[in-house]
Amino acid sequence: MTSVLYRVPAAPYPKAVMAQGMYIQDDSGKRYLDMSGGAAVSCLGHAHPKIVEAVRDQVGKLAFAHTAFFTNEPQEQLARRLTERFGDPAARAYFTSGGSEANETALKITWQYWAARGKPDKKIIISREHSYHGNTFGVLSVSGNSARRRASAAPLLDWPRIAPCYAHRNRTVDESMEQYVERVSGELESAILKVGADRVAAFICEPVVGSSLGVVAAEAGYLQRIRAICDRYDILWIADEIMCGSGRTGTFFAFEHDGTRPDIATLAKGIGGGYQPLAATVMSGSIADTLRHSGFAHGHTYIGHPVSCAAGCAVQDVLDRDKLLAVTQTCGQRFGRLLAERFCEHPNVSEVRGRGLFWAMELVADRASQRGFPLPDGNALPARLMRTAMETGLICYPGGIEIDGACVPHIMLAPPMILEESHMLEAADKLTAVLDNMLNA
Ligand SMILES: Cc1ncc(COP(=O)(O)O)c(C=O)c1O
Repeated sequence: MTSVLYRVPAAPYPKAVMAQGMYIQDDSGKRYLDMSGGAAVSCLGHAHPKIVEAVRDQVGKLAFAHTAFFTNEPQEQLARRLTERFGDPAARAYFTSGGSEANETALKITWQYWAARGKPDKKIIISREHSYHGNTFGVLSVSGNSARRRASAAPLLDWPRIAPCYAHRNRTVDESMEQYVERVSGELESAILKVGADRVAAFICEPVVGSSLGVVAAEAGYLQRIRAICDRYDILWIADEIMCGSGRTGTFFAFEHDGTRPDIATLAKGIGGGYQPLAATVMSGSIADTLRHSGFAHGHTYIGHPVSCAAGCAVQDVLDRDKLLAVTQTCGQRFGRLLAERFCEHPNVSEVRGRGLFWAMELVADRASQRGFPLPDGNALPARLMRTAMETGLICYPGGIEIDGACVPHIMLAPPMILEESHMLEAADKLTAVLDNMLNA
């Protein structure tokens, strides 16, 4: 018997009791290789001594001082480091406890920025189909993930959504990649013109889509086109880097890969490495400057929490000290090669794709037709894949979307940056067993 309402209320869960490095252990002594860092959270693995020490020190020194009264050194330091990485010396950062709050903060910043600039009618947020930006009312309203929207039973707002940049599924046979990029980015311009630029506040997207599509990176030129369209119509671009940021793809911000920069970027998960709840909303200097004059009506009790920000600073220290962005690139290439060797020819694998230490396999019922798994049973596949993986002692992150009346599942992998060759091989063997089990079921 439990008094906890679980994430899936009727599901049984093993009880995690300790974790070290790449492994989590449950109360029966069973060990699980953590190849997804939960949901791209544990970027430095578990029980990293430097982060544990920083958290302990900060709790003893200053556990809490409400930000209505004080600032604190960890949040000042972390803001300096993140704004430096953002590449705008006048940028500022706002710290919350999780990804949904960070994106809600981005929306509040956007609306208050436009109000302060004398354009209070700019309210509409354009987003993309299949996207996920969080579970609170506002950010679920700008999420295109239809299953999550439906399941929430919430009276969500219904603002315009455009197609994601997902060439593997949506590029037509007679289209070059350049033509495809022009077409999908052009959807943003059409959506803006349809409702009127004077009513559109921002466009939000993940530069590399994480769990909702299964690690789908924007094609070359897409984000630059998005930047240009937003500039043309005076619209802010919010990059949701909750999952793909914090070094996961081999650059600190995923957008760096594309040689462009959003007006606002949100971070969570890897920024605190799971040692404390932590998220950040980083905004350009020009937005920060406007808000400095107009004020900013927002806030939660735990914003800028000293212990969370101390954990964040320690994660940044380790990233720099151990040169983990470079490690993520080289180790990621090795991992990607291994996944391709082992799974590209698998009869149920449609594509192996990724960047840095962020990888996914898209699965199909039939490779020739690229059809997914028939509904309604197909929709149960991601949960079954997760259960089977757990039984084999592997933590990975399956998901799936509906395409043409079938479920197209994927398995996302976002291993800690301390990953070694032996972990890659163990993961590949376990994934083979999971896929075999699925085939024979
Ligand atoms: C891209 C993206 N945005 C936002 C969120 C919401 O973050 P949180 O669950 O910390 O509220 C998630 C969570 O998975 C995410 O993947």
